[in-house]
Parts: sequence; structure tokens; C-alpha cells
Amino acid sequence: MKSESTYITENLDAYEQGADGFIAQYESCDAAEFAPRFYADMTACLNPGDLDVLDLGCGPGRDSFCLADAGFHVVGVDGSQSFISRAHRQSEGRISPNPVFLCDLAPELIKTRALSRNFDIIFLNAFLFHLNEMDRYVLYDVLSGLMKNRAYLYATLRRGPDCLGRNMFDVPIEEMESFAIKGGFQIEVAERGMSDFFGREGVSWDHVILRREW
Ligand SMILES: C[S@@+](CC[C@H](N)C(=O)[O-])C[C@H]1O[C@@H](n2cnc3c(N)ncnc32)[C@H](O)[C@@H]1O
Repeated sequence: MKSESTYITENLDAYEQGADGFIAQYESCDAAEFAPRFYADMTACLNPGDLDVLDLGCGPGRDSFCLADAGFHVVGVDGSQSFISRAHRQSEGRISPNPVFLCDLAPELIKTRALSRNFDIIFLNAFLFHLNEMDRYVLYDVLSGLMKNRAYLYATLRRGPDCLGRNMFDVPIEEMESFAIKGGFQIEVAERGMSDFFGREGVSWDHVILRREW
């Protein structure tokens, strides 16, 4: 297994080098189509203005903007400076309240923790598979410390072959179950084998929801 900093740096370098293409790709899709169940659950929230959302691995901010438009208080966090700069540019001149965007690195999330905010909702959309097992366990501890007692977490888990230049790891459902048991969450597999939005050969997605007092 590669050392933590090497594989994370490689991933972020790949995103930086291909930033324009990734931005076009991520912004080409409708947020709600990528994770329909998540957006259905968000639409069912009666008082979004009372709820804090962490969109981790937010990329250029498609989901963060969509959630802010729906009235949630959103913090979007990503390790790519190009994506965060794009999100900041997109924030200019908008009428709706903007998300807070931070360039920060998982699993430690030093800047995010320094905000001293706790979140009702954590969205891990096409993100968790970029961390190896050891780092995912560090992240689970960090996220536990960032969540309110009543909390909801939604993760999309990628299945299938790697994309060239980016390191990807399989995240077993059983691992999410252990995280759920440890944190006192109910777990639900909302989607299994959902087809890839971008039609990549052999790629599919499982979607998992963790709920506590929710
Ligand atoms: C596949 S993209 C998904 C972006 C967005 N969530 C979406 O669905 O369009 C994965 C994102 O994770 C970010 N990322 C990868 N490793 C990271 C790390 N260790 N810390 C923070 N962000 C990371 C990348 O910069 C990229 O924006």
C-alpha cells in the first residue's frame, strides 16, 4: 500500500491537471439525478434553514450550490484548489445565500474542524473511494466528531475499474455497517448497483444512508 501522502497527492494532482475537463463533466449533470434518494430526503426536510450540511469532496460545488438554494447552511470542502476557486467564482453575484467553500484535506480535515461547527447532514458523493482503508477509518473518527447527535450521512460508493491516474479503493458495505454500529446509526442501502451517470464501462454505484435519531 502506498504511503498516505503519496496516493492522496497523486489523486489531487490528477484533478488539478484535468480540472477544466472535470469541472465541465461535474457541472453537466443534474445534482438530483446523480443521487435521487438523497435529494428526495433533503426535499422532505421541513426546516432546511435549521440544518447544517457538510458536502465533503464537493468538487466545484454542484451539490453544495443546489443545497444552499434549497435553504440549507452548507460547507463544501475539497482538496483541489482549482475546484474551490471555481466554486468561489460561481458564488460571486448569486442571489441565494452561498455555501462556505474550504480547500482542506481528508482524512484529517484540519481547517474544517477549526470551523468548530457540527453538522446535521454529511454528504459523501463520489468521494470515499479516494481514501484507502486506513485513512477511511481516520475519516470516520473525524466525521463522528463533526456530527450532531441527530444526524444523517449519505455516501455513494463506487464499484468497478479504476480511472487512469487516480487511485480508487473499494469500500465494502460491511465497513459502513461497522461505522454505523459504532456510532449508533441505523443503516440503509438505498441503491445497489446503480448505473454510472457518465456511462463508464463496468462502473456502478451503491448508495448508503446512516441515520441517528433521524
Ligand atoms: C469524483 S470527484 C466528486 C466531486 C463531487 N462530489 C461530485 O459528485 O461531482 C472526487 C472529489 O474528491 C476530492 N478529493 C479526493 N481526495 C481528497 C482528499 N484526500 N481530501 C479532500 N478532497 C479530496 C477531489 O478533489 C474531487 O473533487
